[in-house]
Amino acid sequence: MGDIAEKGASFYSNAEDYWKDIPPTVDGMLGGYGNISNMDIRGSKAFLQKFLGEGEGKTGAGCALDCGAGIGRITKRLLLPLFNTVDLVDVTQEFLDKAKTYLGDEGQRVGKYFCTGLQEFVPEFGRYDVIWIQWVIGHLTDGHLVEFLRRCQSALRPNGLIVIKDNVSYEGVVPDEVDSSVCRDLDIVRTLVAQAGLQVVLEEQEMNFPKELFQVHTLALR
Ligand SMILES: C[S@@+](CC[C@H](N)C(=O)[O-])C[C@H]1O[C@@H](n2cnc3c(N)ncnc32)[C@H](O)[C@@H]1O
Repeated sequence: MGDIAEKGASFYSNAEDYWKDIPPTVDGMLGGYGNISNMDIRGSKAFLQKFLGEGEGKTGAGCALDCGAGIGRITKRLLLPLFNTVDLVDVTQEFLDKAKTYLGDEGQRVGKYFCTGLQEFVPEFGRYDVIWIQWVIGHLTDGHLVEFLRRCQSALRPNGLIVIKDNVSYEGVVPDEVDSSVCRDLDIVRTLVAQAGLQVVLEEQEMNFPKELFQVHTLALR
């Protein structure tokens, strides 16, 4: 996939228009597959817990960032139970507004809500133990994804971790004209990660999602 010069600014504005029309619900976040949310969160928790805990090299439990957070589905069930503070960033203001009630009392531990595209977002230097990026990388051009991952690396605390969890295609780049996104194959994602100067330290596939969906892979990066 080319950069924004090839794709045109409408790649981003079309996606923004698409998400503005989506209801601020778990089902809306998951394209009508709200029923996989529990399984998704269970898998993510098991993945993340391999890095957390006490001792040498373990990732801290201070602050996490939920990227493309939507209404905070992941913040509520995965990140707030594991981290003292969670920040959310998403391009759709209506979703972040909904998060303020959806997260309930525990939402008091949200640090900051950022309403901006990840292609422009600069996470604070050295603030985060974990930066979670789920079901949103397809909304960034290759160049913007690489640059965003580089900025994320600068935003990590010692032993911090970036996690990408997303759909992957069997081969090549599969465009989705409806939500203005792309789905990349795993080799392409790995190449972009390497271009950002990051290494994949763990990679897993979600095995139990419905067969008609793309494969979903989780990659831990440092
Ligand atoms: C498929 S939903 C996933 C939401 C959440 N990650 C989850 O798994 O529940 C995609 C989210 O990405 C957001 N989004 C789309 N393009 C974005 C961009 N360029 N920067 C930040 N967020 C974006 C949408 O507003 C939406 O909340």
